[in-house]
Amino acid sequence: MELLISPSILSANFARLDEQIKAAEQGGADWLHVDVMDGHFVPNLTIGPQVVHDIREVCSLPLDVHLMIEKPHTLAEQFVDAGGDYITVHVEADGAMEAIELIKSRGKKAGIAINPTTSHITLEPYLERVDMVVVMTVNPGFGGQRFMPEVLPKLSTIKKMMDMRGLTAYLEVDGGIKRENAGEVVKAGANVLVAGSAVFKGRGSIEENITDLREAAQNALKTS
Ligand code: DX5
Ligand code: ZN
Repeated sequence: MELLISPSILSANFARLDEQIKAAEQGGADWLHVDVMDGHFVPNLTIGPQVVHDIREVCSLPLDVHLMIEKPHTLAEQFVDAGGDYITVHVEADGAMEAIELIKSRGKKAGIAINPTTSHITLEPYLERVDMVVVMTVNPGFGGQRFMPEVLPKLSTIKKMMDMRGLTAYLEVDGGIKRENAGEVVKAGANVLVAGSAVFKGRGSIEENITDLREAAQNALKTS
């Protein structure tokens, strides 16, 4: 099974972003996860399209842009123009479907994200339209939070919903992913792991941390 690691720059040092992105790239990252927060949908502010544009210039990995914003249909195209490859909006946001259609009409990949307490049923209208489903394993807003194991049954249910429809969209998990829980999430069906603090604030170098995570996930799959 293809397994992708998407380091989240939310836990990087923004004053040394170029260097840290290159370390992730050389350290074996598959994608780069970019968290966009508007201070409304979540109680935190991060970056906008200009920063995504500047990251695009220095990074050759696919950019996995996670929009935690209230009205994604009003801003999605700016993130397309900025160079996002996968652009994900939340099922809880206003105008999520409109944003997905806009992203796809511009030839980019669209994702739908779901918060820990939102029912999997809300994904039904989106599943056939998206290239990725992002299951949040923390309440979005901040890096470095504790993984919520209670989301695992929902992750398995969503994987089954996708399989039953013959869908091959990616299934990404985001929040608190570390070597200790990487096995559980891949066994439940995830094939893209976002990791912020585990990669940029983990025990070893950025490269060692990415390798550790991948090994933990792959070992779990071998023994399952
Ligand atoms: C949470 C963000 C995540 C977060 C992941 O709101 O969407 O991408 O940065 O960071 P860790 O791995 O530290 O939970
Ligand atoms: Zn994220």
